[in-house]
Amino acid sequence: MAILVTGGTGYIGSHTIVELLDEGYDVVIVDNLSNSKIEVLQRIKEITKKDFKFYEVDILCKEALEEVFKTNSIEAVIHFAGLKAVGESVAKPLMYYNNNIVGTLVLCEVMDKYNVKKLVFSSSATVYKMSDYSLTEDSELGATNPYGNTKLMIEQILRDIYMSDNSWGITLLRYFNPVGAHESGLIGEDAVGTPNNLMPYITQVAVGKRRELSIFGSDYNTHDGTGIRDYIHVVDLAKGHLKALNKTLNENQIEVYNLGTGKGYSVLDVVHKFTKSTGIDIPYTICNRRPGDVSVCYADSSKARRDLGWEFEKGLEDMCRDSWKWQMLNPLGYE
Ligand code: NAD
Ligand code: WQD
Repeated sequence: MAILVTGGTGYIGSHTIVELLDEGYDVVIVDNLSNSKIEVLQRIKEITKKDFKFYEVDILCKEALEEVFKTNSIEAVIHFAGLKAVGESVAKPLMYYNNNIVGTLVLCEVMDKYNVKKLVFSSSATVYKMSDYSLTEDSELGATNPYGNTKLMIEQILRDIYMSDNSWGITLLRYFNPVGAHESGLIGEDAVGTPNNLMPYITQVAVGKRRELSIFGSDYNTHDGTGIRDYIHVVDLAKGHLKALNKTLNENQIEVYNLGTGKGYSVLDVVHKFTKSTGIDIPYTICNRRPGDVSVCYADSSKARRDLGWEFEKGLEDMCRDSWKWQMLNPLGYE
């Protein structure tokens, strides 16, 4: 029996596959390579010394997806495949609703048809209205952009599927700010074009691809005026998927968990820690606030700790060091 990983050549998927293979799971990957490179497969093999199956398939293509279910014995699905750029989703909402929502509908239809009813889904902290600083799974929901809406809508769709048939087991994981890379430096986040997120921007400044970091606002009500977020090492996040998978395989229920560290760091905290752990100065300028940003957001992950037995192990220094190692060894990403 194998675990099907959709979006498995992407950033979080590739790290999760390493953990799955290390734990002895058989893995089947489906990805259309719209935001990832085929080279990642070699890197995963290099790290794990294990083999797995890969299908270049778009999850919107039902026939191709069915073929994967027909030719493999799939036990459960970890569903990462999706588009994730907030700004792009505002400009291209139809593309986001189609890819993320219709893609998930097609996947669930095929799973239902082949009687595979165990699913771990990548949701996001972006589903919260952010009316509190520390967010529990019960905090108020409300997205502010099409990308976030797709995550909220998919969560609702999955709840409805479970309501109609409680032989499903579904786990919704709301990630906070994933950063870092595998300690080997062989896999990491391969940001295409100008990075939207803080850590890849910092590493691109460090490697000389960008001149300086723009810090979006220094007048927030925080200790140094810059925005505070909950950064989580991608390997800790990947390990959270194995804990969630284990529970999903054994219980027929739908549950939601935050995956973050519960510690908030400001933009300047990250910049300073990056310099401390790598010895590289990051030039920056202070700019206006980025529209839509909140001042502070971090996870209360006590539910994941309690129910999944999951705990993060890596701190901000590890996140900076590993992000840098990946960038330094792969200045052009997987190219
Ligand atoms: P990523 O872009 O690196 O990986 C997503 C993968 O899905 C890519 O390899 C892409 O090619 C593939 N894909 C997209 N549409 C597809 C389709 N229709 N068919 C087949 N493959 C398709 O992104 P990531 O950072 O690894 O994120 C994985 C998941 O986690 C996404 O659903 C994302 O929304 C969610 N998430 C990410 C973050 C983050 O900050 N990285 C935070 C919260 C949630
Ligand atoms: C972090 C902090 C910025 C870039 C996003 C998505 C969210 C989720 C995770 C998918 C903020 C500041 C950033 C820069 C900066 N993804 N910043 N200069 O916005 O918390 O979350 O990624 O689900 O949906 O919105 O992450 O890394 O963009 O920003 O000053 O060049 O860094 O203002 O305070 P964010 P981020």
